[in-house]
Amino acid sequence: MAHVWQGVINEYKDRLPVTKQTEVITMGEGGTPLIQARALSELTGSTVWLKFEGMNPTGSFKDRGMTMAITKAKESGAKAVVCASTGNTSASAAAYAKQAGMRSAVLVPEGKISMGKMSQAVAHGADIIQIDGNFDNCLEVARKLSESYPVFLVNSVNPYRIEGQKTAAFEVVDTLGDAPDIHVLPVGNAGNITAYWKGYREYAQETPATSGETLSAVSTRTPAMWGFQAEGAAPLVLGHPVTEPETIATAIRIGNPASWDTAIAARDESGGLIDSVSDVEILEAHRWLSSREGVFVEPGSASGVAGLLKKARAGEVPTDATIVVTVTGHGLKDPQWAIKGAEAEDPTAAEPKRVAFDVVSVASALGLE
Ligand code: F0G
Repeated sequence: MAHVWQGVINEYKDRLPVTKQTEVITMGEGGTPLIQARALSELTGSTVWLKFEGMNPTGSFKDRGMTMAITKAKESGAKAVVCASTGNTSASAAAYAKQAGMRSAVLVPEGKISMGKMSQAVAHGADIIQIDGNFDNCLEVARKLSESYPVFLVNSVNPYRIEGQKTAAFEVVDTLGDAPDIHVLPVGNAGNITAYWKGYREYAQETPATSGETLSAVSTRTPAMWGFQAEGAAPLVLGHPVTEPETIATAIRIGNPASWDTAIAARDESGGLIDSVSDVEILEAHRWLSSREGVFVEPGSASGVAGLLKKARAGEVPTDATIVVTVTGHGLKDPQWAIKGAEAEDPTAAEPKRVAFDVVSVASALGLE
């Protein structure tokens, strides 16, 4: 019988902190497609793949970490969870908390989260608190709240989040047969680059399984990790926190990443880099993905591709390499940019032709002969 995907905890339970008694809270996350990016491959002369994380249950990679964090929250008897978020973590926390029968509180920067993400938190009945501040301020409050009140913190400072998210690296290796040469991804709070690097390292060496036996290495190597921040929110590139982060890519509008040190370690240990891309470059990559590869992502998700395009233009991308780029969230989260991007290329693009109820008229409007 065909294998039915069971969610990342059940699929990789030997490599995650669960026992046979653990009640797994899952919505079947993970198992996301690795899509060949033909135009990017042609441009770079390398084989480029897109790990499309928008295909997770709430539309972003956060679900991988959230299944783990909520499972552990439930196991510990928690009744409520809290997170700070630029939108995707809150959507995920709200959904998984509901699955687990728990209450969720989400702290978001006022006016700086997309409508799609906000509507998810609303739909799942989260207690939404808008904070007059940015993500970094929200995280500070969420952390303090969880220290003093009976709420379980599910941001990526919670190590279970990283554990769940590392499964994306396992999937890449399981699909390609080995690790890629380069792994490219957006960087905001820096949990994901930390998680991928952990996953790639674990898969490249013998590892003790949760059950006690020894798991042999699955891959023969680890990739260079290439992370890209938005120019106006690039603390890891600048080497100091940014107090007023600004970018249209609200998902990664973060000035003081919680996983700072582990992101730098991922960069250095892997022989990789962390660089920045401008909002114009992010929107260009966003448009590239939708109009050339057929993949619809939200702007923040396009920053990895923006970085790859930037490096390719500078002649800094090797040819004949295998490159995986994670696109982190679905385009439907923040669809206004698709309309704006299409209009910028062709002012009439977002105005569908109005035609009479008649085959000949439709054929003529389509230029068919
Ligand atoms: N891409 C998207 C779509 C995101 O939502 C985020 C982070 C990132 C990339 C960056 O990942 O933080 O692990 O470096 N979003 C968080 C949130 C902060 O609250 O949803 P990171």
